[in-house]
Amino acid sequence: MTEAPTLPAADIEAAVEAAADWENPLRDRGDRRLPKIAGPSGLVIFGVTGDLSRKKLMPAVYDLANRGLLPPGFSLVGFARRDWEDEDFAQIVHDSVREHSRTEFREEVWQQLAEGMRFIPGDFDDDQAFKQLRSAVEELDASRGTSGNYAFYLSVPPKFFPKVVQQLKKHGLAKAPEGSWRRAVIEKPFGHNLKSARALNKVLHDVFDPEQVFRIDHYLGKETVQNILALRFANQMYEPIWNRSYVDHVQITMAEDIGIGGRAGYYDGIGSARDVIQNHLLQLMALTAMEEPLAFDVDSLLTEKLKVLKSVKLPEHLGEHTVRGQYAAGWQGGEKAIGYLQEDGIDPKSKTDTYAAIKVEVDNRRWAGVPFYLRTGKRLGRRVTEIAVVFQRAPHSPFDHTATEELGQNAIVIRVQPDEGITVRFGSKVPGTSMEIRDVSMDFAYGESFTESSPEAYERLILDVLLGDSNLFPRTEEVELSWRILDPIEQYWGTHGRPAQYSSGSWGPQEADEMLARDGRSWRRP
Ligand code: BG6
Repeated sequence: MTEAPTLPAADIEAAVEAAADWENPLRDRGDRRLPKIAGPSGLVIFGVTGDLSRKKLMPAVYDLANRGLLPPGFSLVGFARRDWEDEDFAQIVHDSVREHSRTEFREEVWQQLAEGMRFIPGDFDDDQAFKQLRSAVEELDASRGTSGNYAFYLSVPPKFFPKVVQQLKKHGLAKAPEGSWRRAVIEKPFGHNLKSARALNKVLHDVFDPEQVFRIDHYLGKETVQNILALRFANQMYEPIWNRSYVDHVQITMAEDIGIGGRAGYYDGIGSARDVIQNHLLQLMALTAMEEPLAFDVDSLLTEKLKVLKSVKLPEHLGEHTVRGQYAAGWQGGEKAIGYLQEDGIDPKSKTDTYAAIKVEVDNRRWAGVPFYLRTGKRLGRRVTEIAVVFQRAPHSPFDHTATEELGQNAIVIRVQPDEGITVRFGSKVPGTSMEIRDVSMDFAYGESFTESSPEAYERLILDVLLGDSNLFPRTEEVELSWRILDPIEQYWGTHGRPAQYSSGSWGPQEADEMLARDGRSWRRP
């Protein structure tokens, strides 16, 4: 029997090393299907008693914990002007989680989360309270292993941003200890015009570096909004017709059936265009109109979005191509609804818009001459957000005109919410007729195609803050450019009359219908 030849030791060593070095595609390139889990960290919420915090932020934190996406020692610190102990705060979080969280309640998840909850009572200019905050953070580093990694969430009215940010600086909380991170999360509205946004940016950047700042536009956290880029750039079908040669116009609608609820203090004087068009709708427009980014990373996305925002051209006659409205009394879902001017806390002479519709163009080679109509409103017929890309009619029809009387324009409708999905509308022959063509729809619904339910926007965004992933957060330049678009419209409205009245439960003021009719078009009734 001959002995098997043995390899020289050096070759065996080299082979072992090579095997260890093997490029596991899942490990080395980071499998995007696997959920990313936040490292050791904590979240401090300023304005923890507010509506947003109760309805969205606290439930999102719990949902993340429940999905196993937070580190075991994750800590949540609330800061507000209340005479609470840690236990009172934990009880408030508990109630909000029970009422608003998306996932089921599990006692063991809750217990683990609750152990890391602290409350700091105080005013924003109370130095003592900020000293206490600093001690709480250090104590949590020691007891829960948060490693000095903290995000400060400013869920407070913009007039308090400068104070809170200054206090964080003064008390050494903004600067991360060696090897850790500190981040600031800023809720909208980011200013009320370009000037105020710039002033806020200045204050913010005096304390935090741009990479430390995460500005929230929660629409970017929605699955259906992220899917705009997937639809356009992961497929071959749509992009060739996504331009002025085929598209007639684009309608972006965010309609709400609710009124202003208890938010009079915030809303009056701000209005629907500043509340929604400046951020959510211009972001949706940028994603719909932008060119393909070089890569799916912050800089490439920002580059393309900025190009769109810079190309936006406002109509020459703002009086003809913009409309603002205010809801009057009416019927909503079978119930009588009061008008805006009768709402608690609203100045009965208020000129604040609760409805706004504007026409803009994106003045570049892809879109020149294609109007983008953006509208939003409270107390409209139903709650729906959608982007409808409406195509030109076929250039020629071999059918008798009676055959196509009921044929509309083809459209691709991205249904952002509710009923998330995409509809493609086109003409089809009606069975049994000699030749009659009518609109039909082809539908993709998230609920039917996927078993996983979509996380809430705030779950995604809070997790991204903790991971330091800023793809879904608008940058300074975007915010400022968006104000640059809206400012002239607001100035025009400020000096021209009052908002048109519309009945609660309707689809907005008649003037908005007339605005489109002048262009030979009409609004969709989603
Ligand atoms: C907020 C606005 O940004 O978005 C609110 O300030 C509005 O006025 C809300 O109601 C709507 O959000 P969503 O996710 O329910 O469409």
